[in-house]
Amino acid sequence: MNYNNQMPRAAITGLGVYLPERRLTNQDLEKVLDTTSEWIVQRTGICERRVAGPEETTFTMALAASQQALAAANLLPEKVDLIICATLIPEYMFPSTASLLQNALGATHAAGFDLEAACAGFIYALSVARAYVLSGMAENILVIGSETMSRVIDWQDRSTCVLFGDGAGAAVVQARRGPSETGGEIESVVLMNDGSKADCLIIPGGGSRNPASEETVRQRLHFIKMNGPEVFKSAVRGMSEACLLAAERADVKLAEVDLMVAHQANARIIEAIQKRLGLPDHKVYQNLQRYGNTSAASVPIALYDAQQEGRLRPGMRVIVAGFGGGFSCGAALIHWK
Ligand code: ACO
Repeated sequence: MNYNNQMPRAAITGLGVYLPERRLTNQDLEKVLDTTSEWIVQRTGICERRVAGPEETTFTMALAASQQALAAANLLPEKVDLIICATLIPEYMFPSTASLLQNALGATHAAGFDLEAACAGFIYALSVARAYVLSGMAENILVIGSETMSRVIDWQDRSTCVLFGDGAGAAVVQARRGPSETGGEIESVVLMNDGSKADCLIIPGGGSRNPASEETVRQRLHFIKMNGPEVFKSAVRGMSEACLLAAERADVKLAEVDLMVAHQANARIIEAIQKRLGLPDHKVYQNLQRYGNTSAASVPIALYDAQQEGRLRPGMRVIVAGFGGGFSCGAALIHWK
């Protein structure tokens, strides 16, 4: 790692994504579940999601997204100091997915670790990357959110399986010193946790509490269990509060925010946050209609799509927010230059 005494700023300088080709539409789900496309669209806004093929995993998707982000940032893998992979469904229990990425990318000088903050994982990873850059401990960091949700969804549980999708998003975070350098400068980050609600969104099996056994498999404990209404309320409250705090810490008024890219879990959650913050429609980005909830991957995928669609442009102040199991929650104010 490259230690130095200067106080640089931290900026996103490249984005990349990977989405599996296979599309699973609401109409496909209607054929195998007691549900309707109308119910799913009305309650969530989701129309279709991507599902990984047999050869696609958290690692392979993260690798493709990372390579694209590095190319966008024009950064060679050997220049990367640190790889942080946010995921709730890593390639293995251990070693870390970040270690596999370090090798496959040829990031010969990088350290790496996985970070687990469920659907808020990308915001948490961004906060770590920013802290490493501001402290001078690293210059070039690869931050990834990659999730193969289809492998931990109970396809017999209609209340959860319609919500999620697979995919990966990556961002290169670099130290910036000169005033003219471009990139999305991370001006503030806020993180919050409410561990009292840990049971409301959980995969109970496979860890040290309920190690994998025939019994845990029989009880379907290796799949996501969720208290939907509680998650909904807390997600709205948490992400709204985190956005307000992130703007305040960056000394930015909400009226000066040009775009909100919140975790793409549910259109109704995003609309409720939008209402609380008083943001007009054109300042709120959504792509969950196409991909469902891709957990830690949703924010970087949405940032990438917003940039491709011309919704995210230089000069804009963007608020990103995440919420997930834990409950973990966070937001960041990014000034795109
Ligand atoms: N199709 C048809 N009916 C369904 C389905 C389905 N796919 N799923 C549930 N229902 C039924 C329920 O069984 C229930 O029936 P009942 O009244 O006969 O018991 C009825 O619909 C209403 O269920 P509710 O849970 O009250 O419906 P609600 O309006 O709360 O919507 C939802 C459910 C969409 C899950 C909502 O609670 C929600 O979005 N919560 C947030 C969940 C979320 O986003 N989780 C993602 C992980 S966390 C995160 O990323 C933020």
